[in-house]
Amino acid sequence: MSFLDSLTDFGFGMGGQMSTDMAIDLGTANTLVAIPGEGIVVNEPSVVAIEKATHRVLAVGHEAKSMINHTPDAFSAEHPLHDGVVADYDVTEAMISAFINKAAPRKYPWQPKPRIVVCIPCGATSVEKRAVFEASIQAGARQAYLIEEPMAAAMGADLPVTEPTGSMVVDIGGGTTEVAVISLGGIVTSSSLRLAGNRMDEAIAMHLRDLLGIKIGERTAEIIKIKIGSILPFEDGRERDMVISGQDVITEQPKEVTIQSEDVRAALQAPIDEMVTHIKETFKKTNPDLASDIIQNGILLTGGGGLLAGLDRYLTDKLEIPVWTSPTALTNVVMGCLKVLETPQALRQTLMRTK
Ligand SMILES: Nc1ncnc2c1ncn2[C@@H]1O[C@H](COP(=O)(O)OP(=O)(O)OP(=O)(O)O)[C@@H](O)[C@H]1O
Ligand SMILES: [Mg+2]
Repeated sequence: MSFLDSLTDFGFGMGGQMSTDMAIDLGTANTLVAIPGEGIVVNEPSVVAIEKATHRVLAVGHEAKSMINHTPDAFSAEHPLHDGVVADYDVTEAMISAFINKAAPRKYPWQPKPRIVVCIPCGATSVEKRAVFEASIQAGARQAYLIEEPMAAAMGADLPVTEPTGSMVVDIGGGTTEVAVISLGGIVTSSSLRLAGNRMDEAIAMHLRDLLGIKIGERTAEIIKIKIGSILPFEDGRERDMVISGQDVITEQPKEVTIQSEDVRAALQAPIDEMVTHIKETFKKTNPDLASDIIQNGILLTGGGGLLAGLDRYLTDKLEIPVWTSPTALTNVVMGCLKVLETPQALRQTLMRTK
């Protein structure tokens, strides 16, 4: 069945069948699965550990993430999605399959397979969209419906997406920063920047290498960002510090140093300013009526990267529009996908159409 055929039959026969339909936020950093009536049942890192010789999947999610940089040569722990899109098709398929199975194992082979609503970045090409669609089907979905990530995030955060008013969403994930203006159930203007949380981690690692001569891995950089990262001085007026371990850049010997939150802030300045430029560009493309709605309603900041300390205040200042961080920044996308599953007719217009 083609993608368009799958869209046209959407909504028919919902409920009343024995299959468990699912909402999936297939993210660069984290994958979440939610089920109607149950809510979120899987929330794990998008990582798969593989035995190289046989391509056998050893672990997915939390267990696989703990293996990154700790695997012997015979194994690898990989992120199958890069920048929000499928980088390794087979591994993505294996990951979706493992998570679908974890969310709702099919007890009997004759039970219908699930229908799933899955998100994709709004900048995805048709080849990238098709990769998500095909991987979902191969992973065990009976049907897959695609939705653009910021649209799902807006619905998950209860923005009035179907109303005749402009809502603006900035979703900063691990791989992409998605900016979208939504009105009357559709995305009016959008853009996707392949720079988000992962690039913040890289910027921290590079800065600390240059400043303190220490080499750290991606997991350590992420922990630093979450624990003491910020883009403005903290609201309590106190700076933080943290002891980290890594390797000396020259001798490669173990090295321990204390880092300061001011140093982490300096590292984050360039990637965050690139995001600001990108958001401003998208706002400029918005028509004046919607722009005035956005100035009044403010901008929703969501995605894990949106939780960076001080980012809402920094963006409010730079954009001169109120920006507020969603308290459910990490779960909005999957909850938005779930809404589509639960009320398919009302929100059917929000699903993606491909040529
Ligand atoms: N408190 C925090 N402060 C700063 N960054 C955070 C915080 N919590 C999570 N993050 C970052 O958020 C990112 C993950 O966010 P999220 O789960 O929304 O991404 P994703 O949906 O998997 O990625 P994408 O949407 O780009 O495909 C990671 O880079 C993580 O380090
Ligand atoms: Mg995301």
